Amino acid sequence: MMRVGTMVPPLVGSIRRAAFFCRSAMEPGGGVAMVQGASRGIGLEFVRQLLEKKEKGQVIATCRDPSRASFLQELKGKYTERLDILPLDVTDESSIKASTKSINERYGSLNLLINASGVLSIPGVLQPETTLNKVEKSSLMFAYEVNAAGPTLVIKHMWPLLKLGGQTASERKFSIVANLSARVSSIGDNGLGGWHSYRSSKTALNQLTKNISLEFARRKDPIVCILLHPGTVDTDLSKPFQRGVPEGKLFTPEFSVGKLLAVIEGTEASDNGKFFAWDGQQIPW
Ligand SMILES: NC(=O)c1ccc[n+]([C@@H]2O[C@H](COP(=O)([O-])OP(=O)(O)OC[C@H]3O[C@@H](n4cnc5c(N)ncnc54)[C@H](OP(=O)(O)O)[C@@H]3O)[C@@H](O)[C@H]2O)c1
Repeated sequence: MMRVGTMVPPLVGSIRRAAFFCRSAMEPGGGVAMVQGASRGIGLEFVRQLLEKKEKGQVIATCRDPSRASFLQELKGKYTERLDILPLDVTDESSIKASTKSINERYGSLNLLINASGVLSIPGVLQPETTLNKVEKSSLMFAYEVNAAGPTLVIKHMWPLLKLGGQTASERKFSIVANLSARVSSIGDNGLGGWHSYRSSKTALNQLTKNISLEFARRKDPIVCILLHPGTVDTDLSKPFQRGVPEGKLFTPEFSVGKLLAVIEGTEASDNGKFFAWDGQQIPW
């Protein structure tokens, strides 16, 4: 049984400076953070920790259907002033534009954008293929649309907001875009095969993120893009594939997101375009 995102690869690079997430990435002004794909799983946990581990800072949580995102609504009840919930479906560009407009009107800038949405399996629509014979064009296209094109379009529209200053100024010299990828996206690491649609859609996300990071750097835009692998995390996405996960290797969302926030917090300008695991190790392409 293949495990979600854990291909047990030889890691490259060294363990990065992973600052403990005791200081906000956006203090002293608190900053504005957006978590896209925040209805459940890892995205929801990002929202919770950004609110609970910091005393200030605005958090924008986007999801396809806010009225059904009950955990987000609970957080909204507790953090009325600091949390905004907006509808956004990455396959519907007009919803991305509408969210951009709302964020621009309310805040004028964005200091941290986390793209957490993603799909691995949906019965009857997308199966993690174990053989080429099971690959369907529709599955490949669907995975690519949600996992690669979607986050890219979100960055495209949020780009003008990813600037310094604004009403919640950051002490950091750059804004951060963090895209949730998966270790299985690595071509260099791929020793097992399978999961054609998911794996290749995340590989496409990696290339798109790298491309975007180069464009931002060329234009001297103060934006750093990174890719993150969260480990194998106990969420709806991994549920059907958890059987073979070794003892101690299935992380809680709380643990994984705590580590990922430390990686984000430790991000330096020279990290632009790099792919990091939850423990700060760099992952080969
Ligand atoms: N869990 C793992 O072990 C693992 C390992 C490696 C990488 N990852 C990556 O980590 C990210 C988060 O995964 P997860 O485990 O938290 O998954 P999850 O619990 O299944 O949550 C997936 C999220 O993506 C959202 N989403 C799906 N389609 C969307 C669309 N068209 N537009 C906007 N949002 C959409 C879902 O919203 P709805 O509630 O509306 O469906 C949900 O909030 C994903 O990118 C995944 O590939 C996870």
